[in-house]
Amino acid sequence: MPKVFVTRRIPEIGINMLKEKGYDVEVSDVDGVLPRKVLLEKVKGADAVLSLLTDKINAEFLDAAGPQLKIVANYAVGFDNIDVKALNEKNVIAANTPGVLNESVAEMSITLLLAIAKKVVEADKFMREGKYKGWGPMMFLGNDLAGKTLGLIGLGRIGQVVAQRMSAGFEMKVIYYDIKRNEEAEKKYNLEYRDLESLLKDSDFVSIHVPMTPETKHLLGADQFKMMKKTAYLVNTARGPVIDENALVEALKAGLIKGVALDVYENEPAMAEGLKDLPNTILIPHIASATEETRGAMSELAAKNIIAALSGEEPMTPIKI
Ligand code: GLV
Ligand code: GLV
Repeated sequence: MPKVFVTRRIPEIGINMLKEKGYDVEVSDVDGVLPRKVLLEKVKGADAVLSLLTDKINAEFLDAAGPQLKIVANYAVGFDNIDVKALNEKNVIAANTPGVLNESVAEMSITLLLAIAKKVVEADKFMREGKYKGWGPMMFLGNDLAGKTLGLIGLGRIGQVVAQRMSAGFEMKVIYYDIKRNEEAEKKYNLEYRDLESLLKDSDFVSIHVPMTPETKHLLGADQFKMMKKTAYLVNTARGPVIDENALVEALKAGLIKGVALDVYENEPAMAEGLKDLPNTILIPHIASATEETRGAMSELAAKNIIAALSGEEPMTPIKI
């Protein structure tokens, strides 16, 4: 009976699918990320591992698991936690969960764009602190999105959903930068392609949708913040290290940009020194895909990937590099 190890409790749907196949399924009962040593012990002898973005899957992990391992199915679209080359060399399949979370991550990006521009979180805090003494014409002046320019860094599946919604629904002018131009999407969603510098110079709002790779690390740092409008807002639901977070704190302090809303951080769960003390920030804990619908769908897709691999078939969403 194939052995499957799940590195943390996830929505039941996928776990039940694996159990119904008759696999010997073990789900970590630790409340939190498994300590490395425990993880390496637990995966010994596993035929499949359902991993999280917080687990480092590398050569050491493969050695600990053993040669029977067939697949590592990541419960995430991002796979910067996986050394895919090391897996391929040992004929271990790597899979992720693209597609099912596009809307939910896009919706969170849009939520953050709106919330930072309208000062929603700051104003909520003001109410709770009992500071509201009556309506005022100059209180909490924010900004509108309509008619403004939204710059998308990365036009993958998620970036395209944001582009569609914001161009059609919010009447924004949408420009994008990506290593690949996508002329079909340009026509479909009325987009304009720009290089990164021109995008940063012209955008009133910037939203990040690139994966974490050596090329995207610190794509936005001190030099890029200088190029941005002083009135610009920045949103990141992709991966923290795309932004040089210390440089971001300095840029906010210096007034180089107007505000930032982050779902992801450079060294999670830590935040750069000083970030949380800045008023023009919204900080949420890596929850862009965290909806009941999407987390269920991710659980199902990760399980399907494992079932396919253990049946000798091609998984639904293998990672190809
Ligand atoms: C979440 O961050 C994911 O990559 O799915
Ligand atoms: C994720 O699915 C992306 O390609 O943006």
